[in-house]
Amino acid sequence: MRAFLPIFFSGLLLSSLAEVAARAEEKPRAAPDFKKDVLPVFEEKCIRCHGAKRRGGKLDMRTLSALLEGGDTGPALKPGNAKKSLLIELIHYKEMPPKKEEPFITPTELEMLRHWINTMQGKT
Ligand code: HEC
Repeated sequence: MRAFLPIFFSGLLLSSLAEVAARAEEKPRAAPDFKKDVLPVFEEKCIRCHGAKRRGGKLDMRTLSALLEGGDTGPALKPGNAKKSLLIELIHYKEMPPKKEEPFITPTELEMLRHWINTMQGKT
């Protein structure tokens, strides 16, 4: 009987660790904010071609309303649905920024942008 005790306890420990990990994942992440989180990325990597001077595809990325209005192809994003958002699609397939135009969007930034759009509600 005694020999089994350590095994029993290490099993308990592992299952409680797993529980803690699961709970940490469930914790809702704060929704990114356009001005604070998103705009700095766009300013660094997009707005020189999508702002005051140049407007590739007629898209202005300086404000949320301009993004919702969109460019030649229509709205740049669909609130609540990153998968159907043009700008996410273009970044994902490395169409934007155009090839050879650095800096690119990092995977962390793309994840943040997806999260930003997915948590956006009622702004259409
Ligand atoms: C070097 C200039 C340049 C940079 C940097 C750039 N774009 Fe573009 N973008 C363009 C041009 C030009 C077009 C028009 C389509 C084309 O010619 O490919 C365009 C088109 C688009 C469109 C489609 C507009 C429409 O309605 O047709 C989206 C969305 C877009 N860009 C998003 C972005 C995002 C997001 C970034 C930053 C990660 C970015 N772009 C960076 C030049 C640029």
